[in-house]
Amino acid sequence: MLVIGSDHAGYGMKLEIIKYLEGKQRPYLDVGGTAQSCDYPLIAVDACTKIITGECLKGILVCGTGIGMAIAANKVPGVRAAVGHDVYTVKLAREHNRINMLCLGARIIGREYAFELIEAFLNTEFELGRHRRRLDIITSIESKNWKTFKNNYDTVESPKDPEILKRR
Ligand code: RB5
Repeated sequence: MLVIGSDHAGYGMKLEIIKYLEGKQRPYLDVGGTAQSCDYPLIAVDACTKIITGECLKGILVCGTGIGMAIAANKVPGVRAAVGHDVYTVKLAREHNRINMLCLGARIIGREYAFELIEAFLNTEFELGRHRRRLDIITSIESKNWKTFKNNYDTVESPKDPEILKRR
């Protein structure tokens, strides 16, 4: 089972992807996201939960660029997410990095290209060998206690311009 989710920016592409998956008779679970403006990390965490509980093996998240979804998804231990921009990278992201979440940018790539990336994501296997060891290192990073480090969210510049704040 494949989990799929989007924010408002990715919603149109998510619908196209769902149609595509249905055409291929691939089972999927939509965790939501509509044309209504929403916060992409909330959708990402719902999709990632389906992966870490084992309900779904892989997932697809769509937002404007794919980047926000990937950042959020990679905070969830056990989830390895990458933004897909080309078939070669997506194949390597499966072979070497064993990604289980593909993040797509609806404002960046076209529909047909998204389908090609999805095929590469679904049909490429992990290579094991040295890559297994490297994934084990990533897993050990996840299990470190990072709580003593202050989140730098407050220190980043925040937009003051009301026009910027209005953007979805
Ligand atoms: C929404 O405007 C946009 O920020 C979001 O879809 C995504 O691209 C974030 O990374």
